Formats: sequence, C-alpha cells, structure tokens
Amino acid sequence: MPDDSKAVVRPARGVRGVVRIPGDKSISHRYAMLAAIAEGTSRFQNFSAARDCQSTLDCMAKLGGESKRLDDGTIEVRGAGPRLKAPTTMLDCGNSGSTMRMLSGILAGQRFASELCGDESLSRRPMARIMKPLSEMGAKISSSEGGRPPLQIHGGALKAIHYKPEVASAQVKSCVLFAGLFADGETVVEEPIRTRDHGEIALRAFGAEVERSGNASRIVGGQRLRAIEAHVPGDLSSAAFFLCAAAIYPGSQITLPAILMNPTRARLLDLLIQMGLKVSVAHLEEHQGELVGTIEAHGVTWTGGVISGADTAALIDEIPVLAAIAPYSVGGLEVRDGKELRVKESDRIAAVATNLRKMGAEIEERPDGMKIPGRQHLHGAELDSVGDHRIAMAFAVAALRAEGETTILGADAAGVSYPTFFRDLESIATR
Ligand code: S3P
Repeated sequence: MPDDSKAVVRPARGVRGVVRIPGDKSISHRYAMLAAIAEGTSRFQNFSAARDCQSTLDCMAKLGGESKRLDDGTIEVRGAGPRLKAPTTMLDCGNSGSTMRMLSGILAGQRFASELCGDESLSRRPMARIMKPLSEMGAKISSSEGGRPPLQIHGGALKAIHYKPEVASAQVKSCVLFAGLFADGETVVEEPIRTRDHGEIALRAFGAEVERSGNASRIVGGQRLRAIEAHVPGDLSSAAFFLCAAAIYPGSQITLPAILMNPTRARLLDLLIQMGLKVSVAHLEEHQGELVGTIEAHGVTWTGGVISGADTAALIDEIPVLAAIAPYSVGGLEVRDGKELRVKESDRIAAVATNLRKMGAEIEERPDGMKIPGRQHLHGAELDSVGDHRIAMAFAVAALRAEGETTILGADAAGVSYPTFFRDLESIATR
C-alpha cells in the first residue's frame, strides 16, 4: 500500500515536559510468543502499541494463541500450549524482522508446515542467520533466493545444538533458544558480543530454566511454560528520541516515567551522559526480571563522540537518532563497525546521509558507518522516511532545531514502533 502520509515539524525553542512511553517492543514480541505456547491465560499491561507487535499477536492467533484487548488496554493472550495449530493461511509478519526471526524458532518445533511473509522492506532482509541454526536442529526450512523471505518451515523433532552465531543478534539468539524449548537435550547459544537478554528473562518469567554464563545462554528442551501477568516497561529505544531532543537544547528538562533499564539496553544512558546530557534515574523497580526506572534528563552541552565495537551493537536501534542530531554537537559523531545498519528496516546509513544532506549538513558515509562533523546549522527540508519508523522519528527530532519547517514524507512509518510519536513530540516542544 503506498504511504502518502506526511508530518510537518516546526522548529522549537526547547523541549520540556513528561512523556509516557509505550511498552517495550522487544519484550512485547517475546511475551506474545511465549504466552501463546504457555498453559493458561496471560495478561499484559502497557503492551507495546507498535504495529510490529500487532503483527506478532495476529500470527500467534492464526496458530491458536488468540488474544484480545480488554477495556483498560490490557492485552490478554490465551495460551495454546506447546503444540500450536497449523495455520490455514500465510503468517504475515508485516515490517517486523523480530516476528519473522523469533517465530521461526517456535515453528521449527511444530509438526506442521507453515509459511511466513512480510512487507517490501522485510522481504529484502537476511534470514540465512536463522535458517542455518534451525536447519542444523533438524527443521526443513526454505526461502527465496539469497535467504530472503518468504520462508517455508516444516518443523518437527529437533535436536539440541551448540550454536555460535557470526552476527551479534538478539533476534537470532531468541530464535534458537525458543527452538531449544522443543529440542531433545541442551541447546546453547554462544554470542560473539553480548546482546539484549529479553528472551532469556522472558523465558524465565514463564517458568523455564535458562542458564547464562559469559556470553553463553543454555536451555534444556521439553520445559513447559505457564501463563504470567506482567507490566511491560516503557521502551528505551522510543525514549531515545526524547532524550536526544533534550540533549540538543541547553536548559531542556524532560521526565520519562517507568522506562526499561535492562543493562543490555541501557548503554544508551551511559553514552548520553558521556556526550553531555544530564541524566538521573529514580524509582527503580523490577517487573518479571526486567529493571524499570523513571528518567529525568536535562540538556547542557552536546559534545558528540565515537560509537564503535560492542557499543555499536548495543546501540544499533538508537544510532539513527544519534546521527541525526550529531550536526548540533560540538565535536561531531563517528560511527564504526555498523555494517548491520545497512540491513535494518532500511539501509540506515544511506537514509541518514541522504536526509542530513537535504538539511544542508556535511556527512561522510562509509561502508560500515559514518562521520558527521559538529557545529553545523541545518535548515528545514522535505525528507523521506523511506518507510523506516526510526528514520521518520530521528529526523523529526533533528527538525526541531533546524531553521524553518521540515516535512517528513511517509511519516506514518513511525507507527511500526510508536503510533503516537508525533503527538508526543509536539507535546514537549516549546515555542
Ligand atoms: C531486537 C534486536 C535487534 C534490534 C531490533 C529488535 C530484538 O535486532 O535491532 O529492533 O528484539 O531482539 P538484531 O538482533 O537483529 O540486531
């Protein structure tokens, strides 16, 4: 469907206020999938409003794990137990790589054939990274040329493997651990760099034993899951847009209640502090193994810096917005080791470079990163989200401090992770 939506962002003098960020997307996907293969009915408050997570709920419903939204917004998922029902139609994952990759792990353990498809962007994304381990475990899995969707999976009896993925990917790790639930023996995923651990934490919340030592996570097959009730913490990757908006205005002040503080995601906060944002965290609590806290942030001087190595993997979803605001920094930003940025919902290095140039900025694009000088003045322009939610939102933030209005074409893409983003951003802009 062509997206002719657009958003106009007017320059702001600063940002100030409180934003309630929707539930974390990574956790919501995992809860929805595990709830569907658990016994009993699970209930989730503050479940992500993202279109991506709706794709997961819709796929799980086709497999027998139906869900509904209660009057107070709670999402209720009826567990079908470990043996799902064969779907009668294709499982449409929409724009969501998380849905396709992690659900494949569950489907690999089912004794039926299924097919997963996605939108134009997802149809270009690499799936060999999950096809390889799942085939080693014994699932029959095929794809279009070059390991691209759609995927056909014929699952069945799986054997446990010790898997060492080449790319650092939490989606791959969760996929293999979910398949490990259906395998005979102990499945181990040993990652090159430690990635977000929501899969392990969610599996434990649903009653499974998952061991972790160093960069290895282990699960023994045949464990039964039981339903849970949970409150999903606010998404730190969505909070990043508001933190970056605060970072570029000295004197800004924003409060973000109940945000996910999981250490495998919170590298963002260290980096923002290192680059000049004043951040404090209050009301720390734990919900189903996930740490949650209220963030208070205020802008002073935005210095910029370098993101490389393990940091690039840890900040992979936040790099578009950090890059979009880099011209406003004192020292600029350099991103290294970010080859993965080219195979996200869009080629995010190319999309950042094109849009920053349209705003009059200088940027050096590299195969695995970029270098953006600081102390630049940007002007409003007509930009394109290229159908990527994080590009749409990143440039809305950059547009706040530009001279003149900015129009973002394909702005509706933001709904893939954050449907009320533009309204929430406007609510904190001061003029
Ligand atoms: C995610 C992991 C990351 C991230 C994506 C969500 C997850 O992808 O970019 O938005 O929920 O596990 P990779 O694991 O492929 O790096």
